[in-house]
Amino acid sequence: MKLTVVAGARPNFMKVAPILWEVARRPHVRATLVHTGQHYDEKMSKLFFDQLKIPKPDIDLEVGSASHAVQTAEVMKRFEPVVVEGKPDAVLVVGDVNSTIACAMTAVKLGVPVAHVEAGLRSFDRTMPEEINRLLTDAISEWLFVSEPSGVENLRNEGAYPGRVHFVGNVMIDTLVACRDQFEAAVDLRTFGVESNGYAVLTLHRPANVDDPAVFRGLLRAVEGVQRELPVVFPVHPRTRKALAAHPAALPNLKLVDPLGYLEFMKLVSHARLVLTDSGGIQEETTYLGVPCLTLRENTERPSTIDQGTNVLVGMDPDKIVAAARKAAKAGRGGHQVPDKWDGHASRRILDVLAGP
Ligand code: UD1
Repeated sequence: MKLTVVAGARPNFMKVAPILWEVARRPHVRATLVHTGQHYDEKMSKLFFDQLKIPKPDIDLEVGSASHAVQTAEVMKRFEPVVVEGKPDAVLVVGDVNSTIACAMTAVKLGVPVAHVEAGLRSFDRTMPEEINRLLTDAISEWLFVSEPSGVENLRNEGAYPGRVHFVGNVMIDTLVACRDQFEAAVDLRTFGVESNGYAVLTLHRPANVDDPAVFRGLLRAVEGVQRELPVVFPVHPRTRKALAAHPAALPNLKLVDPLGYLEFMKLVSHARLVLTDSGGIQEETTYLGVPCLTLRENTERPSTIDQGTNVLVGMDPDKIVAAARKAAKAGRGGHQVPDKWDGHASRRILDVLAGP
């Protein structure tokens, strides 16, 4: 079987890694890796390839940053000849970024079936660009690989043909399981000036939180409250770096760092007393690790992290965030479950469906 595997942005890299490791174990499957170039900085891209032993991309489309329409269109334009020339049996896309929908749409229009990994997740918030990408990608994909039961239910409610839906588990957890020993050894926490279980980790990058000055100021006010009680380590996404420049804040116990590699970041998260985030994937990683997570959003497309895991949806109100952080830091770890099939074998199940056991 000839697969074309697509990766474009940082959260894609830890999802394609275990799929490519699994392909390498199967002599009858060949994969061509296409990097769209949606993320391109060394710390947002190459570092992940090196740490996760992802092979060098066969093709780099080098699209870079642009508005949604321009970026999506540019990926489609550059991906089309790759599919025409490569003639893959299937194109595999992961997650919900612009590269995901752009490559899925290009492939199906050329008659090449698409496999979507992380299908069925829904925030039911259509102001989120990722929600549009999820809905559209699922609507045109032949194989819908689902990470949690809500995904199966959402796809059923949308009328997806049941034979297309496969509940396989979570590929990001495959990577976490495989890298656990490595990330433990990756970095000394003293590099960040903190001690195990004695700090919070913060990540922020959603346009709804970062690009709206009033919301961003409110979140900084919340961070000010949290860092009075607990040091806060904040690896800053490029989008957020720009917003911070416009809202300089003097928070002595806030430790700003550049975007981290996968191993350093997972070490930091795994030893944290608490994580505050607006990311999707981090809600899942904290659930697996049993680290309390406060999600600074009004909704989540990953409800199993709340029902079974350690995640609490706190929204963007500064007072509520500070109160929730205090409560979570006091309560500590324990009392969570790891969702079904988050066991390190999701990629094997995916390849079994696509290429046979
Ligand atoms: C994208 C994804 C989002 C994902 C996030 C993870 C979409 C619609 N959004 O959002 O779902 O959660 O990635 O990071 O696909 N930039 C750099 N270096 C880079 C990449 C970006 O400096 O390597 C800067 C650019 O100025 C760019 C901005 O960051 O304009 C935002 O990047 P972009 O890819 O447009 O969106 P993200 O916010 O990263």
